[in-house]
Amino acid sequence: MTKRVAILISGGGSNMVRLAESMTGDHPARPCLVVSNDAGAGGLARAAAMGIATAVVDHRPFGKDRAAFEAALTDALEAQAPDILCLAGFMRVLTDGFVTRWQGRMLNIHPSLLPKYRGLHTHTRALEAGDAEAGCTVHEVTAELDGGPILGQARVPVLSGDTPETLAARVLEQEHRLYPMVLRRFAAGERGRVDL
Ligand code: GRF
Repeated sequence: MTKRVAILISGGGSNMVRLAESMTGDHPARPCLVVSNDAGAGGLARAAAMGIATAVVDHRPFGKDRAAFEAALTDALEAQAPDILCLAGFMRVLTDGFVTRWQGRMLNIHPSLLPKYRGLHTHTRALEAGDAEAGCTVHEVTAELDGGPILGQARVPVLSGDTPETLAARVLEQEHRLYPMVLRRFAAGERGRVDL
């Protein structure tokens, strides 16, 4: 049975595009929805151009009421009956309630070699620490921020003269390789780690 994948974005959606492009042929999954918390997210037009249903659930009208925002988000998601959620540059922290509902069926990509550098500004922190390598991680989402079971990682060298921007660009290239590989295995029911 083909798995239905909803992808959650907040920005340009380059990871979303690679995920959607990968779900063809004998791939066990297909994209069913791209949803953003920001109506201005560039990824929405990219998804529409690919023929994927899109939705916007703007978080701002809900203020600090995360549960109300997530209830609206859940309505948008359930309308497309996804089997798997992929967070791809989705910049809202999700409550335990939402995560519990989707636990075991929700993935995220994070631009560091977790457990190092959970949270934001990962490349700046890696450069400040003088790390020789950096990378990205795909993990299952649990209530612990950036803390769920790791399903895959990709490593890149930190080069002399790197800035957060040059390092981010090098890592992003690997994100685009790693996330589709992990999603395909996850959708097929495989749980072994991918290491690139
Ligand atoms: C990526 O760097 C990802 O690691 C982080 O947000 C960025 C998403 O970029 N979570 P895009 O919207 O997929 O291009």
